[in-house]
Amino acid sequence: MDSFSYRDGELFVENLRVADVAAKVQTPCYVYSRATLEDHYDRLTAAFRPIAPLVCYSVKSSSNINVLRVLAERGAGMDVVSGGEVQRAAAAGVDMSRCVYAGVGKSDAEIAGAIDARIGLFNCESEEEFENIARIARAQNTTVRVALRVNPDVDPKTHRYTSTGKKETKFGVDLERARRFFATYGRDPHAKLEGLHLHIGSPIYTVDPYREAMTKTAALVDELARDGFTIRSIDLGGGFGADYESAQSPPLKEYADAIIPLAKPLYDKGVRFILEPGRTIVANAGILVVKVLYTKTSGDKRFIICDAGMNALLRPSHYGSFHFIWPVSPGASMTPARRTLDPKLPNTVPQDVVGPLCETGDFLALDRTLPASIKRGDLLAVFTAGAYGMSMASNYNSHPLPAEVIVSGSNAQLVRARETATSLFACELKPSAIDLAGSRA
Ligand code: LLP
Repeated sequence: MDSFSYRDGELFVENLRVADVAAKVQTPCYVYSRATLEDHYDRLTAAFRPIAPLVCYSVKSSSNINVLRVLAERGAGMDVVSGGEVQRAAAAGVDMSRCVYAGVGKSDAEIAGAIDARIGLFNCESEEEFENIARIARAQNTTVRVALRVNPDVDPKTHRYTSTGKKETKFGVDLERARRFFATYGRDPHAKLEGLHLHIGSPIYTVDPYREAMTKTAALVDELARDGFTIRSIDLGGGFGADYESAQSPPLKEYADAIIPLAKPLYDKGVRFILEPGRTIVANAGILVVKVLYTKTSGDKRFIICDAGMNALLRPSHYGSFHFIWPVSPGASMTPARRTLDPKLPNTVPQDVVGPLCETGDFLALDRTLPASIKRGDLLAVFTAGAYGMSMASNYNSHPLPAEVIVSGSNAQLVRARETATSLFACELKPSAIDLAGSRA
């Protein structure tokens, strides 16, 4: 599952004690395991080998350029969704022809920048966006490749904020509109419309939504062929699960076994497949380490107040999501056998794990069964925090962003220095007048 494990009552990341790493870089910090990143990437490519997909790691899930480098060295392309992510992928040295660019709101500058960077494929989400991409490509006297993001109207049975494949979401174009879309734009000389893209939600813990989406997509490919349009690539998006609790997610092979029988006939006819996994690669490859600043009891409630909360990891507060939390040095008798809501160990009590921010919604866990002995100065590990952890962190209440570390074997590398108080407001230091002369007649 991952390379975070307890030995003799101490949490290790690969061959290093998490407590030793945290003592060096201080808290809060994100600690990633390189071996886990690589292992998950390799498992994915092995599971899907019969359709040899281009695996475009979803940059938004964990965007540090050093994380991107680890995966790019393994052969990954990138799924990017903004000009900033295009630049990150470029800074990491990723081959841009192996990158796909999605997102419902690409600005003119972002589109032009991605064309300049020679992006492999635009995943286009609306008629107006297509016209804009084609216009900008024409103005630059160049040609770009475009896939249409279709909305297959499949229920991924996940949180409504991250459910993207149902009709009523803002993403893509309804299946019924896809043929008209190709009829209107399918022969544009500057924006070559030649692929289909879908991403139905995240995380998806059953394989049926993928089966349903792939079946509908294959039918659309046939219809488009009858209309005279050849589909060269199908991007199935991401959404594969991660183990927030031990063994929660189906193995990647199960997803692959559901998808491959439907995809292989198209692959054999020359269709190239793309996947955009984020969470399944990086979630279990990272933990957030926080320090207990204080404990207190209010009424019947016991609080563990940490040096970071929703500013460092928004998921519990924003989606109500579960992250297993346990002390970094619990001692041998308090080592959990599984990551679960209640690891069934003695001397535990329900406690709220909260952050320092001035909001009641600032928590990492509510009513969580944790050792009664947790005290000021202890370190806590928040597991499965690698995906959508640091990438959604904020400076709310003017807290600097956490440091990030990648561990490989017995080596640790600081891959993002902790922000300083002054870097927080560096962009505010030199106010300058805005010259509005001549703005209006
Ligand atoms: N492709 C597209 C077009 C996406 O929108 C996403 C995620 C992915 C791929 C990667 O999905 P993954 O393999 O990581 O599930 N912040 C939320 C998750 C938002 C997902 C957004 N899109 C969370 O913390 O759960």
